[in-house]
Amino acid sequence: MRVAQIQFEPKLGDCSYNLKRIINFLSQCKDVDLIVLPELANSGYLFDGRDHALEVANQLSCLNYLDSLAEFSSANDVFIVSGYLEKVDDKLYNSSVFISPDGSRGNYRKIHLFMDEKKIFEPGNLGLPLFNIGNYKLGMLICFDYLFPEIWRIMALKGADLIVHPSNLITQNAYIVVPAQALMNGYYVITSNRIGREGEIIFCGKSLVVDPRGNIVNTLGALDEGILYTDIDPKLSQNKMITSGNHIFHDRRPKEYMDLYDL
Ligand code: ACM
Repeated sequence: MRVAQIQFEPKLGDCSYNLKRIINFLSQCKDVDLIVLPELANSGYLFDGRDHALEVANQLSCLNYLDSLAEFSSANDVFIVSGYLEKVDDKLYNSSVFISPDGSRGNYRKIHLFMDEKKIFEPGNLGLPLFNIGNYKLGMLICFDYLFPEIWRIMALKGADLIVHPSNLITQNAYIVVPAQALMNGYYVITSNRIGREGEIIFCGKSLVVDPRGNIVNTLGALDEGILYTDIDPKLSQNKMITSGNHIFHDRRPKEYMDLYDL
């Protein structure tokens, strides 16, 4: 499976510019199976409060962002994952869509909101769904979600072979946690980050692909704009032997973990 990650700088609140740039990047991706964009790729990140975010979401409703991605996906026989600003009635979510070339769509809403995101978005309420990508299962996390170990394990136990992770990372912590979680759960992780600056925030790029043994197999630089191509073999995620005598799932001792539910 060939993956393309698009690392770029969305312009805050300029959704038609963002859509044009994204379509331009998509059309450069040749012979790939899956394209992964960053968090809030269509809107930018650092809204000046909830009213500003609502205004941007209203602007987006005329642009049919998801329909444009779906059209590209069907025409080019490619799966697409993108972070996007989702508005439902007057509620806003920091969401990620999974679009299949057959026209079907899956949605994930960021569960763990970072800092002032709590003043703008509702926390995700769709759980941790998995989606079929060929013979494999794909799960989604969004940026700061990575800091909560339970969700990685839940998706592993549900059978995820790859986790895609649209991000707007601003600290270095994910570069430690993501490889560790890939190793602990024995699956691929594809983190697609953005670059650039909004206000005082500098986004740190370095999109990466980690294999089921925790090795970083490909990465971009902190300032690079462009497309990162990686060939992955999600079948490797189905071997959960971590040593010749240890299986990641069979060696768990859930009865000893019961404190988790009381603390
Ligand atoms: C983040 O969750 N965008 C830091």
